[in-house]
Amino acid sequence: MRADVLHGLMLPQKRLAAKYFYDAPGSRLFDAICELEEYYPTRTEIDILRRHGAAMAERLGRDALLVELGSGSSLKIRVLLEALSPAVYMPVDISKDHLLHSAESLAATFPALQVHAVCADYSVPFELPVDDHEHPRAAFFPGSSVGNFDPADAERLLRRVGDLVGPEGRLLVGVDLVKDHRILEAAYNDAAGVTADFNLNLLTRINRELDADFDLTGFRHRAWFNPASSRIEMHLISTREQHVVVAGQRFTFGVEESIHTESSYKYSVDSFHQLAGRAGFEAEQVWTDADADSDQPPLFSVHCLVWRG
Ligand code: AVJ
Repeated sequence: MRADVLHGLMLPQKRLAAKYFYDAPGSRLFDAICELEEYYPTRTEIDILRRHGAAMAERLGRDALLVELGSGSSLKIRVLLEALSPAVYMPVDISKDHLLHSAESLAATFPALQVHAVCADYSVPFELPVDDHEHPRAAFFPGSSVGNFDPADAERLLRRVGDLVGPEGRLLVGVDLVKDHRILEAAYNDAAGVTADFNLNLLTRINRELDADFDLTGFRHRAWFNPASSRIEMHLISTREQHVVVAGQRFTFGVEESIHTESSYKYSVDSFHQLAGRAGFEAEQVWTDADADSDQPPLFSVHCLVWRG
C-alpha cells in the first residue's frame, strides 16, 4: 500500500487505488452506500438474483466449489445458496475482519455448508488454499466490481478467473449498465454524503497507516460520468493550494487539483460480452431487471459465462 500510494501521488494525474477504500470503517461505509436510495445497483442486482436464482443455479451446477471475489458482507450469496447448494463456499476478500465475521455468520446459518474464507487481494494473482478438483468449480463476482478495473486489467482479471474455474467452468458476474448520466451521477453523489465520507475515508486511512497529514477539510468529493471512457470517476479535489507529507515524502496540491480514486465502468450487454470474449469466456445467458411490460431500459445485468480458455 505504501509503495502504491507514493507512486500514485507522484503521477501527473494523482491517483489512489480503489481497493484501499476497504479498511474496517470503509467497509462499513460501503455497506451504508448499498442502502442509499440513489445507489440502485445493490438492490437491483439482489432483485435479479432473487427472481432468477433457480435458473442461475441450473447453469452453475450443484455441489460446486464456489469462489466469490470480493465477498464483503456475503449478503448476495445468501440469496443463491439454497438453490445452488455448493459443496464448498470460498469467499475471497481483502478486508480481513469483515471477511471473517461474515464467513462465520454465514456458516452459522448454513451448518451443512463448508465455508473456507480466503483473505486475498484478487486484483493480483492469488492461490486457492485447496487442491480440490473433485468438485466442479464456479465463480461469483457480483456488484459490478469488475467495473472498477480498466478494460485491459479487467480482461487480465477475467482470464485469471477462467484459469481458476477451469475448462467449462462458469462465472456468474454482475455488471452495471450504461444509462442516463443523471441516474449514474446521482448514485455516486448521494444527498446524505455517504459516498463523500467513503471517498474521504481513504485519506483518513492513509493518515493513520502511512503517517500522513492530509487535512480533510482541504478536500471535497466529486464524481462524474466520463462518456468517452464510459465510466464514473470519483475524485478528491483540493480546495486550496497545500502540501501534504506521506511516509516522509512531500506532495504539493494546486487549487482544484484532483486525486482520481475510483473508476466504475458502465457497459452495455454487448460491450461486456466483447470484453468477456477477449478474456476467453463465452456468454451463456444474461439476466437483467428489464420488465416485459415497461419500456424502461434495464439498470443492471447478471451474466453467466463459460470458460473456453
Ligand atoms: C461495488 C465496488 C463496484 O463502483 O459502484 C460505490 C463501489 N464506489 N460508490 C461501484 C462504489 C462508490 C462500487 N463497487
